[in-house]
Amino acid sequence: DWKMQDVLEEEIKVIKGMVAPDEHVICALSGGVDSTVAATLVHKAIGDRLHCVFVDNGLLRYKERERVMATFQSDLHLPVTCIDASDRFLSKLKGVKDPEDKRKIIGREFIYIFDDFALELEKKLGKRPTFLVQGTLYPDVIESCPPPGSGRTHSHTIKSHHNVGGLPKDMKLKLIEPLKLLFKDEVRKLGCILNVPESFLKRHPFPGPGFAVRVLGDVTEGNALDILRQVDEIFVQSIKDAGLYDKIWQAFAVFLPVQSVGVQGDQRTHSHVVVLRAVTSEDGMTADWYYFDHKFLVDVVGKICNNVRGVNRVCQDITSKPPATVEWE
Ligand code: XMP
Repeated sequence: DWKMQDVLEEEIKVIKGMVAPDEHVICALSGGVDSTVAATLVHKAIGDRLHCVFVDNGLLRYKERERVMATFQSDLHLPVTCIDASDRFLSKLKGVKDPEDKRKIIGREFIYIFDDFALELEKKLGKRPTFLVQGTLYPDVIESCPPPGSGRTHSHTIKSHHNVGGLPKDMKLKLIEPLKLLFKDEVRKLGCILNVPESFLKRHPFPGPGFAVRVLGDVTEGNALDILRQVDEIFVQSIKDAGLYDKIWQAFAVFLPVQSVGVQGDQRTHSHVVVLRAVTSEDGMTADWYYFDHKFLVDVVGKICNNVRGVNRVCQDITSKPPATVEWE
């Protein structure tokens, strides 16, 4: 793709011009496409004066940390520090049920951890990093500040997403936003030129608060997170095996804080209910529920009930957006 090749070369030139040879740059990797492509691009421009951090907040998918770290390190050779902050996040979330409170706690905790990382780095380098890389896309820029009078309301104003502008403001870091003028499909093309694995570039979006908004209510209760990780993995893997992953915008499981009666073997059970959600969408603003065929659903439900202890009932969410949202919280 000639156009994206030009964009890449231009961006690299711009970044080289912006960051003086003795300056350092930090970047928080979420495991998503945008921050990964942005970091890879900046790394190409300034090498190991880029310092990335990936935070495991304990709310991630099955083996997510291992999987993304393998991509960052083995495939992309990014300089990245992995911080396991699961205990920190989960202890702060204990007893918290309100979805917006959960989002705020997670956003705040992330900033503390990021601050600590920057401070440690400053000690190690003997100087303060001066730039921050963010994977902001063109649509994010518009959505975050809808033009006045445009009548646009957006989920950013309904839910406190913390993807954009969610990092410490008092750190006085200058921003590098190499994807600011690009749309998602262009970012994927750019990622392809930068050798980001194709399977990674096609990953479904994943919300910043992760499983905190997919375990309804208190996420620390019982082994909800562990159950959700197993169910989600079986569901998503089945979708990949059936060749459906690229047809779907997002597919995931939701854990409900209720128990239902069931019978397994000759035992009466009183176990958890999980929900499968898969939607098609262009941009997440509206979405249609995805219609799986009968056999696919029978197989998935069988796998879930036979393999995940503590689940005796599987439902599918067949609500589009609107009136529902994609996430349950
Ligand atoms: P909703 O549930 O608002 O989701 O229909 C629309 C899209 O936004 C994602 N989403 C989030 N992303 N932080 C994020 O980074 C959040 O708090 C958040 N809430 C929803 C959702 O996964 C879907 O892609």
